[in-house]
Amino acid sequence: MKAQILPYVHSFPAPAVLIGCGTVAKPNLITCSWFGTVCSEPPMVSVSIRDNRFSYPLVQESGEFTVNIPRSSQLDWVIHCGTKSGRDTQKFADLGITPVACPALDSAPMIEECSLVLACKVKHQQKLGTHDIFIAEIVKIYCDEELVKPNGKADCFPEDQIVYLDKRYFIPKRLK
Ligand SMILES: Cc1cc2nc3c(=O)[nH]c(=O)nc-3n(C[C@H](O)[C@H](O)[C@H](O)COP(=O)(O)O)c2cc1C
Repeated sequence: MKAQILPYVHSFPAPAVLIGCGTVAKPNLITCSWFGTVCSEPPMVSVSIRDNRFSYPLVQESGEFTVNIPRSSQLDWVIHCGTKSGRDTQKFADLGITPVACPALDSAPMIEECSLVLACKVKHQQKLGTHDIFIAEIVKIYCDEELVKPNGKADCFPEDQIVYLDKRYFIPKRLK
């Protein structure tokens, strides 16, 4: 017989990404792992943001964000942007990284030093409880030139992305 325990948000492997919001002049980054793929055509992703985050109104009011995909060597960015608030500090300046305009968007900045960035426009927002889910279309992908593959897609450095699971950080290991 199985044990029965009370429901809670069980941990599954989740990407740890840096959501860029605000403007190039007043940029902010929030680490999010409640992030996922939700549709292939049009290409869409979702991110859940708690309503007390400084980033929440920035995403809600602009209807835009960038998804900056960090490499394992950038774990300190993930930790900083996931533990400090833009209310209290300027995270780009703290980390010595550069906010740059995203030509496909009106305001949300991307990280110049990040190899792979998705520019997203919010299509749906739904309050769930503590968090709202923002469902957004990927309108453009920016990546380092050397990452572009012959098929026009980007090499997503699969064994160097950061996975968050059970409050710990991992990198994926290929099985097959
Ligand atoms: C690995 C990690 C994942 C996180 N995922 C989320 C998330 O998906 N949604 C969210 O609202 N907060 C998430 N957080 C918490 C925020 O990143 C954190 O509260 C941050 O300081 C908010 O910044 P802001 O106030 O500048 O928006 C996460 C934190 C970490 C460390």
